[in-house]
Parts: sequence; structure tokens; C-alpha cells
Amino acid sequence: MRLRDPKEFRELVPATKRYIYLNHAAISPTPLPSLFEAYRYLYEISNEGSIAANREEADELFRIRKNIGNLINADPEEISLVPNTSYGINIVAHGLDIKQGENIVTDSLEFPAVVYPFLKLSKKGVKINLVKTNPYTFEEDILSNIDKNTRLVAISHVSFNTGLRVDVKKIAREAKEFGALVLLDIIQSAGAIRIDVRELDIDFAVAGGYKWLMSPQGSGFLYVKKGLIEDPPFYGWKTTTEYLRFDPTNFNLEKGPRRFEIGTIDIAANLALSKSCEIISNNMDLIENSVLSLSQYAIKLSKEYNLEAITPENKRAGIVVIKLNKAREVVQQLANDNIIVSPRGEGIRISTHFYNTEDEIQKTIEKIAKLASYSN
Ligand SMILES: Cc1ncc(COP(=O)(O)O)c(C=O)c1O
Repeated sequence: MRLRDPKEFRELVPATKRYIYLNHAAISPTPLPSLFEAYRYLYEISNEGSIAANREEADELFRIRKNIGNLINADPEEISLVPNTSYGINIVAHGLDIKQGENIVTDSLEFPAVVYPFLKLSKKGVKINLVKTNPYTFEEDILSNIDKNTRLVAISHVSFNTGLRVDVKKIAREAKEFGALVLLDIIQSAGAIRIDVRELDIDFAVAGGYKWLMSPQGSGFLYVKKGLIEDPPFYGWKTTTEYLRFDPTNFNLEKGPRRFEIGTIDIAANLALSKSCEIISNNMDLIENSVLSLSQYAIKLSKEYNLEAITPENKRAGIVVIKLNKAREVVQQLANDNIIVSPRGEGIRISTHFYNTEDEIQKTIEKIAKLASYSN
């Protein structure tokens, strides 16, 4: 599908008919082509059972891995399907064999899914350096905390509660000089802006599919650069090469991406994700340009209405956070008017995907300004 205009896609997102939906950083409404892909599979299973499942998996899910790989410039062999971001981060946390005395650098702006998996490692003497930071000095704060004992830097590409788009290349360059690896949570960037794991020079990337990738909950992927974590932290029946022999007396460690897929995965959800990735990859310029232009518009309008957007304008992606007291009440009042946003960080988070319109942003910010003046 080649789109000439975001409007063509908007028609494929039923939620846009009823809501001003600016909450893609929480959960995206599933667009019809991705929904139909999941539905097609479930329908085939309903009619044919294992015959349909075996047909879909005959290529080792290569088609799904390829579409996801295309989106982030990774080889299909580097893409494993995981049920959520947290699971993928745990694979890295427990797969790297991080030793006592080594440290992990992460920070206070992260979503807990990026931080908590490492806390378990602190029990064996790994130091978790939770750098206290803010959206304006983020890179410098992280860089000044990387040292020769740093094994991993674990950060998000786009911050869920400030909208900051991190200069990952800068951090990765320095991390490499100290011999540290970089794990990037891309759930708030993948699908909204272009991602190239080779250009960013990162080692691991992980994302659930249900935000900017507009896919069902339960879909998701982990990118592991070739040569890393060859021995996965958990073994399951699919971690062996000849897994379809079902022979518990014979185990031969799988080398491909299936080594991280310990058991049955959600095929329907991941087929939808694969479809979304295909559509997004084929229209990446249009999508990125539109996402960036709409978030810029939201920042510009906030200023015009005397609201403070804490998202750095020149380092943004699709999230804009407007500083506000009583954000929860205001978000509820907006929802009563079918305007869907979230309270996050220091205020209200507006997350516009490429098929939103300036008119929707205008209505939302105007209303926020009005409600804010009542509630302050
Ligand atoms: C940066 C970030 N990481 C992870 C998640 C969610 O993690 P999971 O996919 O494990 O539910 C969110 C959800 O808001 C997030 O914003």
C-alpha cells in the first residue's frame, strides 16, 4: 500500500470517526488492514485448525521477521517475536551474563519496564546507575555516567513522559569507546519516525506493537545484533534446532532468532504487526514528515494559548507533553467530549499519529487551555 496522503489511511482507522484520538503513545486503534490480517488467520484456524497454523509457520515466520526487519534495517535473523517490551528487556538483562562489579546505566526518565528488569541483577552485585536527568541535559547526563565497568546502557529512544527524542548516536559512540553495549526501547519511536539500528549503532532494540505500530497487544519484537547472546537466558521446546521431533532426550541449541521464542507465540497479533510494518516501511517519509509536523504544530499552538510544552521542540518525535496541574481531571473532561489523551509526566501527553489533523490538535489544545484556566 502506497499512500499519497495521510487522509487515505485515516479512512482505515474506525476510531477516527468517533473520537479525536491523540493517544497513540498509550494504545493505537488497530487499522483495518492489520485487523484483517489477524482476523484472516483466526478465521483460518477456526476452519482448518493445525493445517492453517502449519501453513503459516512453514517458513519459520520469516515473512513476519522480514517485514519487521525492513522497518528498522535489521536482518530477519536478528528479529525475535516477544509478547511485550518488558519480556524483551528481560532477555537482554538475563542473557548478557553481567557480572558483579559491572554496572548498567539507565535513568530517571524511563518507563519502569526499562529499569525494573535490572533491579533483579543488583541482588548479585551488579550496580544499577539510575541517572537523575531531565529532557534538556539528557545526553550529557548519561555520557558522564558511562565508565569502564559499564556493561550496558539501557534507554528509550523517545521518552514516554517528556517526548524527548534522544540523540542515540552520540550516546552509542561514547558507550562503544568504553566497550559498553546499548539497549534501546523503541516502543515510543517505531512506527512514528525512521529507525535504522545500524546507523544508530545499537546492539539491542525492543518494542511492543500496540503503540505507534498500530498492532494488537501481544505482538512485539526484539532485535539482537548478530553475534550477541548466542546462548539465551531461558530454554523452551522451541529453543532446539529439531524442535518438531518433540524429543526430550535430544537438545541442540538453536542459533537463529527462534532461540528466544521459548514456546508458542501469538501468531495472529504478530501477523497484524507484520502488516503494519509493511505499510509503515512503504510510506516512511510521509509518516515521519506528518508526525513531526503535527507535533510541531501542537507545540506552536500550546505557546499561542499560553501553555507550556515541556517537550524540546528541536528534539521531538510524536509525543508532546503540556505542563498542567490537575491533568487527570482535565483528561477526564476531555474524554467526556470524545477527545482522548493521557495524563503523563508533569501534565497532559498528546500523541498524534500521521493521520491526525491540525484541526483535531487545534480543538484539543483550545479545550485544554479553557479547562486549565478553570482548574488553576
Ligand atoms: C517506553 C515504554 N516502554 C515500555 C512500555 C510498555 O511495556 P510493555 O510492552 O512491556 O507493556 C511503555 C508503555 O507505555 C513505554 O512507554
